[in-house]
Amino acid sequence: MNNQQIYKNHREQFLGKLEGRAAIIPAARMVPHHADCDYPFRQNSDFWYLTGFDEPESVALFLPHRPKGERYILFVLPKISSDEVWNGFRWGVEAVVDQFDVDVSHPLDELENRLWSYLEGADGISFSIGKHPHIEPLVLKIFSEQIERSSRTGAVPFDLTAPSIFLHDLRLRKDDWEIQRMREASSISAKAHEFARQIVRAGMNEREVQAVIEKTFLEEGARGPAYPSIIASGDNACILHYTANNALLRDGELLLIDAGCSMVDYYNSDITRTFPVNGKFTGEQSDLYELVLEAQAKAIDCVLPGKNTEEVHLQAVRVLVQGLVDLGLLKGNVDSLIEQGLYRHFYMHRTGHWLGLDVHDVGAYRLGEYPIPLEAGMVLTVEPGIYISDFFPVPDGQPLIEDRWKGIGIRVEDDVVVTNGKPDILSSNALKLLKEIEE
Ligand code: GLY
Ligand code: MN
Ligand code: MN
Repeated sequence: MNNQQIYKNHREQFLGKLEGRAAIIPAARMVPHHADCDYPFRQNSDFWYLTGFDEPESVALFLPHRPKGERYILFVLPKISSDEVWNGFRWGVEAVVDQFDVDVSHPLDELENRLWSYLEGADGISFSIGKHPHIEPLVLKIFSEQIERSSRTGAVPFDLTAPSIFLHDLRLRKDDWEIQRMREASSISAKAHEFARQIVRAGMNEREVQAVIEKTFLEEGARGPAYPSIIASGDNACILHYTANNALLRDGELLLIDAGCSMVDYYNSDITRTFPVNGKFTGEQSDLYELVLEAQAKAIDCVLPGKNTEEVHLQAVRVLVQGLVDLGLLKGNVDSLIEQGLYRHFYMHRTGHWLGLDVHDVGAYRLGEYPIPLEAGMVLTVEPGIYISDFFPVPDGQPLIEDRWKGIGIRVEDDVVVTNGKPDILSSNALKLLKEIEE
């Protein structure tokens, strides 16, 4: 994927926000898995957002204080055929200039000699401390020498800031192209969920279902799973990040699948569906399932400009708590149950998160005590659930849980874009209404 105009737009916005600071954004590096084997490469999302360049080790410089034609510098691994034999194709120093719209490129091993002069004249350095130990000593050495010099010359204060301050605000607001990529990711993931539901039978292993889901991701052209797929039957669904995926599916249990793909350009989807292994909900299962669906529908209705994620969450909590009181699983006044958090043994996570190049995407939720208002172009998940197990003790004064409810874990998760009209549900092709998913 090489749509350079998109990354160029991102770079221009970022350069504008830096206001004279020089930003240093390193690419991800290979991470060892075990002897002589690395994990599959995963580009750093900030680096990707600004470059669209999918090689490890690179370092990008963004230099708003330099003349036009010297503002976007890329240090890259050189093209060496004896390395390419082992590690695959590299663009190399010359080709990246044309292919990736770079102003100037250099071999990576020249970073140390060249960085000082590129940073000369900047008002500050923007670099993430503590994340890139391979170049941090170099950056800090230059920073401290600049500070020394500015204190002698009385030049403007030289600051060191995190790029996230400028970049993550941009990444939080998706442009039309990014939303389109996430729509594709969601549509592939929805297809995978639909296939999975069609093949599930009692006696299968969770990992056979995982295979169907992930096969679909790959067949449809995605890079693979955006996060470890959660294929959780029965009680396993009450483990929020269950990834063992190795139990037999049993008649009468529910199956929770939380799985989404990542596209070749790293845009993600994050979808959860829960359905009965044998195609038919029991009374207890359907009571709780309908309640989660209602909580989700009301929460999605809240995904509107001017509202905030706090309100989306509270809307879901309110429906869930009222429903749990009606079913006799909680007792008391709904407001005070919510205020005291007395529902948390059933619902212990938030109702959603930003979604983008990271599954739990960057961007603030609050500014101090004020929740960030939703704006068109923001994308979030809406994922209420109910989990009934013995993991959490029942709070004092609340009803003990009858066995008939235990071992039920339900979550329904969709990916939703804030628009100036109704919420745009990217994952709606994955069916979820009770009458649609019962066989
Ligand atoms: N799949 C991780 C989450 O739903 O947040
Ligand atoms: Mn999620
Ligand atoms: Mn999820």
